[in-house]
Amino acid sequence: MSQTYKVEVSNNGEVSHFEVPSGTTILQAAHDANIDLPSSCFAGVCTTCAAKVLEGEVSQEEGMGVSEELQAEGYALLCVAFAKSDLKIEAGKEEEVYDRQFGAS
Ligand code: FES
Repeated sequence: MSQTYKVEVSNNGEVSHFEVPSGTTILQAAHDANIDLPSSCFAGVCTTCAAKVLEGEVSQEEGMGVSEELQAEGYALLCVAFAKSDLKIEAGKEEEVYDRQFGAS
């Protein structure tokens, strides 16, 4: 049975709400709801759509662009992430993910 979850997303300080059916990626659902979130490849490789999950659970088996370590901290690529519960997300984390994965240190 398909289920629908509620998502609250903040992007540059702007908070939006939308619903995501269990078989639809979070980015696609946001797009369908006319919510503009950073995106580019839609395939889990570029990290443009990186976000941080503040509350709730996602599954992102095809998320190649984010290391397991960062995934464990809640970072997700919204174009390949599916909701597993109601969610609270902060979008626009590309730089943060990039720095953490490829930055110096
Ligand atoms: S849009 Fe490229 S990784 Fe999601």
